[in-house]
Amino acid sequence: MALESLLMVWILTSSEAFLLRGPAGPLIAQLGGSVLLPCSAETPLPLEELEVEWRRTDSEALVHLFQEGEVRPESQSYDYSGRAHFLTEGFVAGNYSLQLTNVTRADGGVYTCKVFTNLDSNEITAEIKDIERLVVTGTGVASAYVGDEVTLNCSVDSHIPPGELENVTWKKKDQEMLVLVFRYDQIVPVSAHELYRDRADLFTAEIPKGNFSLRLKHVRPEDKGEYVCEAHSGHLSANTIIALQGLGPPPVQILALVLCVIALLLALGLGVPSCIHLVSNVMPRRYPGYVGEEVVLSLDKEDLPGTIVSVTWKKKGQVILAFQDGKVLLASPESSYHGRTEFAGNPDEDEDEDEDGDEDGDGHFSLRLKNVETEDEGEYICEVHTSERSERSVALQVCKCPRYALTFLQ
Ligand SMILES: *[C@@H]1O[C@H](CO)[C@@H](O)[C@H](O)[C@H]1NC(C)=O
Ligand SMILES: *[C@@H]1O[C@H](CO)[C@@H](O)[C@H](O)[C@H]1NC(C)=O
Ligand SMILES: *[C@@H]1O[C@H](CO)[C@@H](O)[C@H](O)[C@H]1NC(C)=O
Ligand SMILES: *[C@@H]1O[C@H](CO)[C@@H](O)[C@H](O)[C@H]1NC(C)=O
Ligand SMILES: *[C@@H]1O[C@H](CO)[C@@H](O)[C@H](O)[C@H]1NC(C)=O
Repeated sequence: MALESLLMVWILTSSEAFLLRGPAGPLIAQLGGSVLLPCSAETPLPLEELEVEWRRTDSEALVHLFQEGEVRPESQSYDYSGRAHFLTEGFVAGNYSLQLTNVTRADGGVYTCKVFTNLDSNEITAEIKDIERLVVTGTGVASAYVGDEVTLNCSVDSHIPPGELENVTWKKKDQEMLVLVFRYDQIVPVSAHELYRDRADLFTAEIPKGNFSLRLKHVRPEDKGEYVCEAHSGHLSANTIIALQGLGPPPVQILALVLCVIALLLALGLGVPSCIHLVSNVMPRRYPGYVGEEVVLSLDKEDLPGTIVSVTWKKKGQVILAFQDGKVLLASPESSYHGRTEFAGNPDEDEDEDEDGDEDGDGHFSLRLKNVETEDEGEYICEVHTSERSERSVALQVCKCPRYALTFLQ
């Protein structure tokens, strides 16, 4: 018995009448791509005696077989069905390399190419060491209310650990605006467009899992649009697009609006002054208006936490006065408010300066509306962003006035 197996070993090793050549080293394949596993004889072998068998060494699964002058797909393992090919004209030239297409993650491993003739046999191994992949997936759509925070889902799956990716960027598609740049394991704050600076962030603790979801705070109506989450590494890149939609006011504010209208009708109908305080961090005030005169809608700055970053006064969604990025924006020339609105104080003045002594609490950001017209009646919304948090204050005042009532949703 022992002698017999010794003899076998001797026969196998000494009878290598043909030499096989395999790959020079481990191979790298791309997920979904194709890879060539080299296996060739120095000199072509007679086809009628030839048998070529490709197998995986771990599972012994048959990857591809050539026997009795033909390819035998029926004996092939299901996992490789339709994905393994010999090269046309390869056999005639002694080239038994295997082309594997639509590479999957499970294709990584060691393969053997065994070649038999009537008298001899030989084998080589080929290893697919790395399956390169960079797959970026998202959820397609996300929606948010103005002022809220929204998460745009983006997951990166790669053979490269998330922290070693060259970069992952978030861009707003229409203006090619950079929202956030993550490069070699760090968020690069300066690269982001100023509109998104301090508002966009990643979930740092989730990054090792490949979760590069964008966390966008204080959502603004102009944030609506398509966002691209894109990952780069070496020659690979992939992206996904997420549409941010539905940037209306939160339902509570819609409800507030409805209640306001009802309250207004009641107040006018019954002639009873009433003040309904809905959602607010600002005390409601009465604002009777008189045609041709001016009115000041006050904003109590002591009720607001932190330093004021921006203030936007709106009527029917239209901006009539704003303070943003250190600049005052006035109503556009097409607006009926053009030239009639201004801040009651100087917004550039130091916040803490209290000695200007306005007893009414008229802050620097109170709205002064000049030359009041009957059309000015209605609800005014003030949006305030502070360094600490964002608030959309909603307060309703309905007051009976001698000539007519201005009602404000502040
Ligand atoms: C390989 O991928 C191509 C393109 O994605 C597809 O058309 C083909 O059906 C796939 N073949 C197999 C065997 O999965
Ligand atoms: C076998 O064929 C493949 C594909 O044509 C080629 O890349 C490879 O170099 C060939 N091998 C040899 C040893 O000729
Ligand atoms: C984001 O992904 C998580 C986990 O896959 C999922 O539960 C959540 O619903 C997704 N969010 C959106 C807005 O699709
Ligand atoms: C990413 O992490 C955040 C925070 O934990 C989570 O809300 C979100 O659903 C995660 N997204 C995915 C795609 O897992
Ligand atoms: C991300 O990496 C790619 C590939 O190196 C590069 O072309 C691109 O400019 C990088 N993007 C940023 C924002 O750094």
